[in-house]
Amino acid sequence: MTAATLAPSCANKQPWRFVVTQSEDSLPRVRARLSEGNYWAQRAPVIVLVITRDDLDCRLEDDRNYALFDTGMSVMAMLTQAEAEGLYAHPMAGFDSAGLRGDFAIDDGYRLVTVIALGYPGSIEVLNEKHQDAERSARSRKPLQEVVKFDSW
Ligand SMILES: Cc1cc2nc3c(=O)[nH]c(=O)nc-3n(C[C@H](O)[C@H](O)[C@H](O)COP(=O)(O)O)c2cc1C
Repeated sequence: MTAATLAPSCANKQPWRFVVTQSEDSLPRVRARLSEGNYWAQRAPVIVLVITRDDLDCRLEDDRNYALFDTGMSVMAMLTQAEAEGLYAHPMAGFDSAGLRGDFAIDDGYRLVTVIALGYPGSIEVLNEKHQDAERSARSRKPLQEVVKFDSW
């Protein structure tokens, strides 16, 4: 969590907010809101809700609202720090957002951006076939020439 809070942000506004669930009371409530495809996250001992509000960060001309961008950077810092410590942190969009908002009394002004499963990596055997294949394969990314354009628009 410290790494996440050390991320850069516009004018050092630090717009990210984290709801860390790890108790017998809170964790089952988050687990119940995860989508079926995220069955593997049921085993995570900690799940972090990431929220932010546009007015917590710079809002500049040309629709440059930095809350989501800066919150994303703080999440990336959390992910890389987890990896460095032998942990695994996995962001998810697959959850019942309205349900979670209600359960945790997250005000309408906040964006519920993602939830992050956090823990030590478990056995690959508990994953379904598709996920086992993915874990055993090389990471797949678009080739550089597809995502880096030079004078082409
Ligand atoms: C915003 C966001 C939402 C994601 N949601 C899910 C999710 O609900 N379930 C899941 O298994 N992975 C989720 N992921 C992980 C991506 O699917 C994953 O990063 C991508 O497929 C590339 O796989 P890799 O990072 O293992 O190489 C999410 C990642 C991000 C950044």
